[in-house]
Amino acid sequence: MQQPSLVVLITGASAGIGAATARALAPAGCRLALAARRKDRLEELASELRSRHGTETLTLVTDVQVLEQVRAMVEAAHRHFGRLDVLINNAGVLRMAPVLAMPASDMEALMNTNFWPVVHAVRAAAPLMAAQGGGHIINVGSGVSRRGLPYMAVYSATKFALAGLTEGLRIELARDNIRFTTVYPGVIDTDMPRNVDRSRLPEDYPDHTGSRIPVERVAQAIAKAVRTKPVEVYVPGWMRYALWFCAMCPALADKLIGRHYKRRSPV
Ligand SMILES: NC(=O)c1ccc[n+]([C@@H]2O[C@H](COP(=O)([O-])OP(=O)(O)OC[C@H]3O[C@@H](n4cnc5c(N)ncnc54)[C@H](OP(=O)(O)O)[C@@H]3O)[C@@H](O)[C@H]2O)c1
Repeated sequence: MQQPSLVVLITGASAGIGAATARALAPAGCRLALAARRKDRLEELASELRSRHGTETLTLVTDVQVLEQVRAMVEAAHRHFGRLDVLINNAGVLRMAPVLAMPASDMEALMNTNFWPVVHAVRAAAPLMAAQGGGHIINVGSGVSRRGLPYMAVYSATKFALAGLTEGLRIELARDNIRFTTVYPGVIDTDMPRNVDRSRLPEDYPDHTGSRIPVERVAQAIAKAVRTKPVEVYVPGWMRYALWFCAMCPALADKLIGRHYKRRSPV
């Protein structure tokens, strides 16, 4: 008997990693619920996937900072397709500044986009997944989920929170056959690093333009994770060992990272 195609809900699907992940999943026959605030971008992507792959899509205009909209998004996807196999919590924002100079509104936007909506999406999706016999939740963290960096400390804190949340949930919800994957991307070539406001950063802060990873690479890694359900995915893979080194030798890691930034800016 043919397996029914997976129903996958992707947040932050209007751009970057979310849109690339939708493009990576469509050829496998997944049915896709695409969520973000920019309706035009979602509809363009849905029509591209329909015409290229015949993908069954649902677009869900959602501001994840509004928690009622997060629940409504999950319920609408489940209602439309009759099930929800995979939830990819990918929507996120980046704000960079020294902690002492970052406006409180930026700190709130970081936590209210990168962390709390994930908690609420899981609370909405988990009972639906449990009732259908299981599911898979993929949370998009960051390399800075495991090692804080200067000028990204608050963003990093939101991603640490996400990693800790996911580790706890992995065990709490195992009895309901709900599997969790945390994805740890390095610097990926999307609008996020391209358009970040640099006005509060030191002038010679490195922009890492030359070392950004193509977005398709992380999208393919997420598409593979949908099939294989690993606990963690690092893109690039070697970052797992760099982060392990930072955890084992935090003072030395501070020195090396500090030198990298101070060489450019004696802040
Ligand atoms: N790019 C990197 O270097 C990098 C590295 C590590 C981790 N990540 C993580 O990867 C994820 C995706 O980032 P990206 O690089 O693809 O960024 P991006 O190109 O800027 O896309 C961000 C996505 O999040 C959505 N989003 C932002 N705020 C939202 C809100 N309030 N409600 C609903 N959707 C919202 C945006 O859609 P709308 O604006 O249309 O709402 C957009 O689709 C994020 O969680 C980010 O932290 C990125």
